[in-house]
Amino acid sequence: MNVQDFQKMKDEGRRISMVTCYDYSSARAVADSNIDCILVGDSLAMTMHGYPTTLSATTAMMALHTAAVAKGAPAKFIVGDLPFLSYRKGLKEAMDSVHELMSAGAHAVKLEGVRGHAEIVRHIVDSGVPVMGHLGLTPQSVHGLGGMKVQARTNAAVKVLTSEARELEDAGCFAIVLECVPAQGARRVTELLKIPTIGIGAGTHVGGQVLVYQDVLGLNPGFKPKFLRVYANTFEVIRTALNAYNNDVKSGAFPSESESYRDLESTDRSVTKRTEHPAQNGRGSRVTLASQMNQLSNMARV
Ligand code: KIV
Repeated sequence: MNVQDFQKMKDEGRRISMVTCYDYSSARAVADSNIDCILVGDSLAMTMHGYPTTLSATTAMMALHTAAVAKGAPAKFIVGDLPFLSYRKGLKEAMDSVHELMSAGAHAVKLEGVRGHAEIVRHIVDSGVPVMGHLGLTPQSVHGLGGMKVQARTNAAVKVLTSEARELEDAGCFAIVLECVPAQGARRVTELLKIPTIGIGAGTHVGGQVLVYQDVLGLNPGFKPKFLRVYANTFEVIRTALNAYNNDVKSGAFPSESESYRDLESTDRSVTKRTEHPAQNGRGSRVTLASQMNQLSNMARV
């Protein structure tokens, strides 16, 4: 996928799938999936660092995570989020942030809103860097919005949303994320724009969907917004595996003889050969792939 494919997919009526990703090992899983593209979102301040909002993300954090994701998913299109205020302190500061994310391996950047920084968006685009917009609920403005609330619930607010979306399109954005917007409003914006919209809590009449990796995989138990569908209860799979490992350690069932190295002079054939990976021969109460698949198929639908 490259930046032109976003437009092509909208023109051909194909939906774009996007997921957030913040680290190397998760990126390897996304790389091995059919997901179209990755967002290294500033939501990492919450999911990876435990902050209450995205306001604590910095350009240095975003660049570090972007670099890890780029190594794990080198063939995926990666969008890096410009963090809180990084594009509101002037052109030089904005371009320094863009430079850091692109050098770390992003193929595009995303920023929230448009009021007061349309010129900066245009300059980034004119510098050869694709820009994804983000309207509706813009979490970097959480305090200005009075909380994480659904936006554009009135005709007047949809009008504003539409004109901001047009402004971003005119400034050269290649796509726009619409977050927590009623489905009819998101449809209006999507139909008025040439470029694709990518929804999160914006209904089905958009050009694609984006969700947070941890949310899709059920790694964030207790987080159940209306728009979220959880596709696997991974938190439970991990907890069960860790408890099985703990039990085996405590009982002495792990490691088994076949999971132990033997010295070179040993004639005992029942122990692991040096070339064998220990996990291939484990016994004990190992959580089998079959039982994990069983748990994954008990998908929690929210
Ligand atoms: O930071 C993020 O994860 C995002 C998505 C929710 C769109 O901006």
